[in-house]
Amino acid sequence: MINFITLTIFPEMFNSFWSYGIIRKGIEQKKISVSTINIRDFAEGKHRVTDDRPYGGGCGMVMKPEPVAAAIRHARKKHPEAYTLLLTPQGQLFNQGLAQKLADQPGLILVCGRYEGIDERILEHLVDDELSIGDYVLTGGELAAMVVIDAVTRLIPGTLGGEYSAEEDSFSTGLLEYPHYTRPRSFEGAEVPEVLLSGNHAAIKEWRRQASVVRTLLKRPDLLMDKHLSSDDIRFMTKLQKDLKTIMGNHSTAS
Ligand code: ADE
Repeated sequence: MINFITLTIFPEMFNSFWSYGIIRKGIEQKKISVSTINIRDFAEGKHRVTDDRPYGGGCGMVMKPEPVAAAIRHARKKHPEAYTLLLTPQGQLFNQGLAQKLADQPGLILVCGRYEGIDERILEHLVDDELSIGDYVLTGGELAAMVVIDAVTRLIPGTLGGEYSAEEDSFSTGLLEYPHYTRPRSFEGAEVPEVLLSGNHAAIKEWRRQASVVRTLLKRPDLLMDKHLSSDDIRFMTKLQKDLKTIMGNHSTAS
């Protein structure tokens, strides 16, 4: 069971996120628990203002430190075991390996910034780590928090249901996943690969592994650079290389 606690000034953004698919099932089956804390509830004054102009000038607004600090302290008091993450484009890049590590945490407090960012002094004592979901700038951390929660939840054993396991996912093996097919056997003239209909489990396993290697080679060769390929993979790639050389040799003699 992982506790996800999101801190935001737009708690309603999460309502539909909690209500569908694996996230909803995870909540119902008590694999995860979720709560949203409204940072505005911790702001002072009649208007409960959460932002202010930046010292030193410049455009945009900055999230005031007091309400964010009070909201984090409130969350940490309720969930002392949780790890506190700030979603920011300046954070460590999120990937499958990090998702796997976070899936081992008992709780995650996800602080969602808005405007130009949060007052820097929040980072010093109240946040364990900063996380980015990619090199682009969103209007707030809420979507990033949802991405993190989604990727982490599906790694909790039992959330995906049935026979499915996250072990064969793209990235979990270090390779992209093999292609999937379902009925009909023939779709607009395109056939399902024969081997998948053969019932020969060893042949299917080998075909899928080789399809993964080829896909990764074509779509994300960077993933293969630091990947420890098996001796079967190396043998397969050596054969591919030989076949390519033969094909290219035939072409160069033909022209
Ligand atoms: N907030 C704004 N942009 C973000 C990003 N790329 N990742 C995480 N949080 C963000």
